[in-house]
Amino acid sequence: MSGTAPWWRDAVIYQVYIRSFADGNGDGVGDIAGIRSRLPYLKSLGVDAIWINPWYKSPMADHGYDVADYRAIDPLFGTVAEAEELIAEAHRHGIRVIPDIVPNHTSDQHAWFQAALAAGPGSPERERYVFRPGRGPDGGEPPNDWVSCFGGPAWTRLPDGDWYLHLFAPEQPDLNWEHPEVRAEFESILRFWFSRGVDGFRIDVAHGLVKHPGLPDLPPRQQPAQQGPLATADPSQEGPQQHTDHPHWDRDEVHEIYRAWRKVADEFPGDRCFVAEAWADTPERLAAYVRRDGLHTAFNFDFLMSSWSAKDLRAVIDDSLGMLGAVGAPATWVLSNHDVMRHTSRYGRTTVKRWAVNEPYRPEGPVDLELGTRRARAAALLMLALPGGAYIYQGEELGLPEVEDLPEAVLQDPIWERSGHTDRGRDGCRVPIPWSGRTPPYGFSPEDASAAPWLPQPADWAEHTVEAQTRDETSMLELYRGAVRLRREHPALGDGTLTWLDAAEGVLAFRRDPGFVCVVNLSATAYRLPDHTSILLASGTAQGGLLAPDEAVWLSV
Ligand code: GLC
Repeated sequence: MSGTAPWWRDAVIYQVYIRSFADGNGDGVGDIAGIRSRLPYLKSLGVDAIWINPWYKSPMADHGYDVADYRAIDPLFGTVAEAEELIAEAHRHGIRVIPDIVPNHTSDQHAWFQAALAAGPGSPERERYVFRPGRGPDGGEPPNDWVSCFGGPAWTRLPDGDWYLHLFAPEQPDLNWEHPEVRAEFESILRFWFSRGVDGFRIDVAHGLVKHPGLPDLPPRQQPAQQGPLATADPSQEGPQQHTDHPHWDRDEVHEIYRAWRKVADEFPGDRCFVAEAWADTPERLAAYVRRDGLHTAFNFDFLMSSWSAKDLRAVIDDSLGMLGAVGAPATWVLSNHDVMRHTSRYGRTTVKRWAVNEPYRPEGPVDLELGTRRARAAALLMLALPGGAYIYQGEELGLPEVEDLPEAVLQDPIWERSGHTDRGRDGCRVPIPWSGRTPPYGFSPEDASAAPWLPQPADWAEHTVEAQTRDETSMLELYRGAVRLRREHPALGDGTLTWLDAAEGVLAFRRDPGFVCVVNLSATAYRLPDHTSILLASGTAQGGLLAPDEAVWLSV
């Protein structure tokens, strides 16, 4: 792409789930020192930026998504000085740094919430959150029927009788974004980190900040369905995607907040950027977040939620490019993150239909990891060939599967408790990364570590380590390295447009100019490759001009 377009239009951004990436101090939990020690690895992978999950001071009720102080780093991860050193060092490697900001809620240990508890009902301190009296004769019923994304009611009652809202865990009280102090505080936090050199922010639950002022009950059809990755199934929600007015998700008024944030980003030199975690129910609704005066980019979860079907994927690609292109925003593509089942394990299952935003992302039933891995390799080539930016979740480049047999005693995700032990939660995609060696901790922690990794790593991960895969040209890691390198070098890749080519049913084939074609075979039979001058990269063998099922190639034409 041209040298003048902003970097974020086609960046490859690597997601660092800090607890599980690399442990520098040997306490079994990943940290900033660990990230710094692995910058050469990230450089070798060729990524443009890293997004780091929350690193702020936190009691860790939701592993950092419960922030007690947005201007401090949790001692588990390091210090603000170390964060500044990481940012500078990453920049020297040509890697940008994007922390996560959590504006929908704070921790219950945040100074504001503590002040609200102390000040009592009706106090101005309570107005920065969403406190309400209860319903029923003695106020013993919650103010409305909203449900927590982690299970159970979204309200908790205090001994003084008041109820407070938490769309997630009770340790994560929702802020009141109608309050001017809340708005001013977050703009100040953004400036705090922008002036320390961060290149942007990933915005957590970006679609949740504004609530309907009357806090009405959920519309009957949506109960008890929830929106987002943590939802419970509701078969009544099947069918074409439609937008329905919801009292706390994706309300129009939220965009005003982001117009103000955009102005803050624009105060700083360089191209700072935002990426929204916004679960919108149509591509049009998602595009509203990335209009010219709003945020820069948003995760495209429709791609992640799509089944392994050429028809479904093509529809998602066309809708995303169409809707986002109409507002001048680049598309983003994402296959996995810290909230969903790893895609080798998803694709290894026979889920035929597209997931909806209100379905659980942890499909059950037997898994065929060989199949899932073959598809994951093809999906990587598809994702990295599409116009726009792409996200790689740590470990996907190693082909890690979901760890589905973690013993119950080690599960830590609040979903496990809140669901009454019916949903194992997200720990299975958060197991610490295997770097080297034949046995746990596989180089995740230093040799003299005082503690084991915070989640146990499988005994059979020796073949998944970075060490084992490096220079093995058949490995997932070298496939990613090759694809990211080619994507950087090839003038057709990155930002731009695509043209679909005629292909058999179940085959996706598209051209990007100049001279590039990507073919993905999602059908059950081998497919003859179109005319080409050479094969640039193949997820499988692509022998004899035939592309086997569940394989992809990049062609020079
Ligand atoms: C987002 C995060 C998830 C977190 C939740 C509450 O969905 O990605 O990990 O639990 O928000 O902050």
